[in-house]
Amino acid sequence: MKHHLPQLDFASDALQPFLSSETLAFHHGKHHKAYVAKLNAAVEGKDLGQLSLTELVKKAQGGVFNNAAQHYNHSFYWRCIEPGGASSPEGALKAAIDKDFGSLEKLRESFSQAAATHFGSGWCWLVKNAKGRLEVVTHADAGCPVTEGATPLLTCDVWEHAYYIDYRNVRPDYIKAFWKGVNWDFVASCLAKPDGIEATILGTPTKD
Ligand SMILES: [Fe+2]
Repeated sequence: MKHHLPQLDFASDALQPFLSSETLAFHHGKHHKAYVAKLNAAVEGKDLGQLSLTELVKKAQGGVFNNAAQHYNHSFYWRCIEPGGASSPEGALKAAIDKDFGSLEKLRESFSQAAATHFGSGWCWLVKNAKGRLEVVTHADAGCPVTEGATPLLTCDVWEHAYYIDYRNVRPDYIKAFWKGVNWDFVASCLAKPDGIEATILGTPTKD
């Protein structure tokens, strides 16, 4: 199967001032696109080319894993943010956050601290871990929680390419702004229907 860069659910200027059009043009249009192209080149004509993206992330190693996981992680990230301001956790998601963190504010503090202090490139995640508890974890480079049997619920890309155009070296300001656009409806859908995550994040392919 050929892998495709997913379309964004919003216009390139719709996330301003959180993220500029220039950031999206580079981050989605060049970085993410390059991971997809390298993944296709690496798996074409091979047994790995038969696997779904999630299966690839779980089974591949080395360069194939890096490009597959970066395709997965970025596709996930684009669904985590939305223009027009954040929605609110409700229902089962709110109950799980309150149970495992005490409150949404406590989750935000824990997540922001982890994202800000993660050394080097990587990803900060809210996951439902293999024991069924919500947890904040970070992964270096292309790391992805599905390799640990966890269900990803929310992510923030802390590679410099995610924020350097708009925030330069001030990663905490990028993380602070991130919360203003979190799509909690997507987070809730991941908790409720983990089997539907891949189809949701891959959405509609771009026309390239
Ligand atoms: Fe990125």
